[in-house]
Amino acid sequence: MAMLVALVLALCATMARAAVVEHNFTVGGMNISQLCMDSVIYTANEQMPGPTIEATEGDTVVVHVVNDSPYPLSLHWHGIFQLLSGWADGAHMITECPIQPSGNFTYRFNITGQEGTLWWHAHSSLLRATVYGALIIKPRNGTDGYPYKAPYGEIPITLGEWWNKNVDDVEKDAHLTGLGPEVSDALTINGKPGDQTSCRGAGIFEVEVEYNQTYLLRIINAAVNVELFFKVSGHNFTVVAVDASYTEPYATDVIVIAPGQTVDALMTTSATPEGRYYMAANVFESKTVQIRFNNGTVTGIVTYKGAANGTAPSMPAMPAPTDVVAAGRFYWSLRGLVRPVDPPLPTTVDHSMLVEFGVDQEPCAPDQTRCGGFALVAFMNRNSFQFPKNASLLQASFDGVPGVYTEDFPSSPPPLPGIRKATAVKRVNHSDVVEVVLQSRAYSSALGTENHPIHLHGFNFFVLAQGLGAFDPNATYNLVNPRVRNTVIVPGGGWTVIRFVANNPGMWFMHCHLDAHLPLGLAMVFEVLNGPAPNILPPPPEDFPKCY
Ligand code: C2O
Repeated sequence: MAMLVALVLALCATMARAAVVEHNFTVGGMNISQLCMDSVIYTANEQMPGPTIEATEGDTVVVHVVNDSPYPLSLHWHGIFQLLSGWADGAHMITECPIQPSGNFTYRFNITGQEGTLWWHAHSSLLRATVYGALIIKPRNGTDGYPYKAPYGEIPITLGEWWNKNVDDVEKDAHLTGLGPEVSDALTINGKPGDQTSCRGAGIFEVEVEYNQTYLLRIINAAVNVELFFKVSGHNFTVVAVDASYTEPYATDVIVIAPGQTVDALMTTSATPEGRYYMAANVFESKTVQIRFNNGTVTGIVTYKGAANGTAPSMPAMPAPTDVVAAGRFYWSLRGLVRPVDPPLPTTVDHSMLVEFGVDQEPCAPDQTRCGGFALVAFMNRNSFQFPKNASLLQASFDGVPGVYTEDFPSSPPPLPGIRKATAVKRVNHSDVVEVVLQSRAYSSALGTENHPIHLHGFNFFVLAQGLGAFDPNATYNLVNPRVRNTVIVPGGGWTVIRFVANNPGMWFMHCHLDAHLPLGLAMVFEVLNGPAPNILPPPPEDFPKCY
C-alpha cells in the first residue's frame, strides 16, 4: 500500500510538471548593422539567434508562427521525434507546404523520451542562415536528471554563418550558376562575428563566469555549409552529450561540430583568476580538391569575474582548417552512455540498405542562365531528390493523392550509371529496424569528395561503425556503446553505418545538412506506415498550411 501511494504520488508529481511551453514567432524583416554594413535580414522576433525554446522532457511545445516575410516558410524542430505529430516536423514539401507570406500556422508537439540540446531552423531556402535558435530540453527531475554533476551555469553557443547579401539571392545565384552558394562572409557566435574581422567594432559575444566553477556549454552548429573547430583559450572540455544523447565523458581541448549537430560540453573555469579568454571557431575544410572557403575566425570572450577592464584576452591555438586528424579523432572517439532508461540497440535488422551518394557534374539546365560548362548535381543511389511542387509528401500519402512520389527508392545502388531526378521514398512498416550503410563516393575527379553531415528527421540512430574508402563488410560494429545522434559525418569517400527503429508513422527526410547539397538532390525520404493502434498518425491540424 505504501508503495502504491508513493507510486501514485510520484506519478502525480511527474504529470503536474508536464507543462505547455508557448511561443509566438513572427518571422519578418529586421534592420541590422553587421560587418560595417547595414542590411535587412529575416529573423524570428527580430533576434538572431532567434528565441531559445526551453522545455522539460514531457512538455508540450506550441509555437504560433506568423510569416511576415516575403518568402514561403516552414520551421523545423531539428532532432525532435515528433511522435504521432509528423505534421509539425516543418520539412518544406516533405511534411508540409510552407506557410505563405502573411500566413500563419501553429506548430504543436510533445517532447517525449529525449533531453539535451537541440535547435530549430527555417527549412525552406537559405533562410535558415538567419532564422534559427536553440531548443533546450531539461530532464524531468531537473538538474538531478543529468548523468553528471549539475553544472553551476549554462552557456549557449550557437555557431552561425553570415552573408553580406540577401540569403535568398545567394540561393538563387547558386542555382543560376549551377555551382552552389558563394562562400559566406563571416562566422558568428550567438549572431556576432567577433573582433578578428576587418570591420572594427563588429559585435562580439561576451560572457562573464565565476572562477573555479563548472559550466555546461550547449554548442550548436547552425552554420549553413561548414564544419567547425571550437576552442576556448586556457580551457579544456568534457563532452557529455551530442545531439541530445548522452555520451561517455570525453576529454578534449577542441570541439568539432558539423552543421546540424550539437555538443554539450562541461568546462571548468580554473584558468588564471580574473583573466579573459577568447573562445574561437574556424572552418574545418574536408574537401579533397582545393577550393575557396571561409578562412575567417569568429571570436567571443569569456571574462572571469573581477577581471580588470581592458585585460587583453588570450587566443587559443586553432587547428589548421585541413586538420583531418583532429576532426576524425573527435568524431570517431565518442561513445554513447548506456543507461537502462534509454531505448536499447535493436539486435535484428529488417531492412539492410547500402546508400551511395555524392556530388557530380551535369550539363547546365536551360534555366541556369549564368551556368558555364557544367552544373552540380547530387544524389543518393542515383536518385537526385526532387521536391514535389504541389503537395507535401505527407499530405499526398495521407489523402491518397497519386503522382506526387514513387515508392521505389532503391535499397542498394542500381547497376546502371544514369542519374534519375525523382521524388522516391523508401517505405517501411511501423517498428521495422533499418540499417543503412552510408557510402560517400567521388563521382567526378574535378570535384573530389568532402565530409557530408547526414541528418535523419524524426529519429535518433545508433552509429555502429565508420571507415575510409569502400565499406568493409567485415568491419567491427560497436554493438556495446555506440553513440546516438541525429546527424552524422560520413567521411569524404568513406562510410558510416547507422541503425534506427522506425517507430513513428510519417514522412521522414534524410539529407545532407550542408545546405548547398539539398537543392542539388542529396536526400531521400523514409515513409513509415501506421502501426497497430495507437501508433496511427492523426489528421493534420485545422490550420495546416494548404497545398491544394
Ligand atoms: Cu536541421 Cu532537415 O534539418
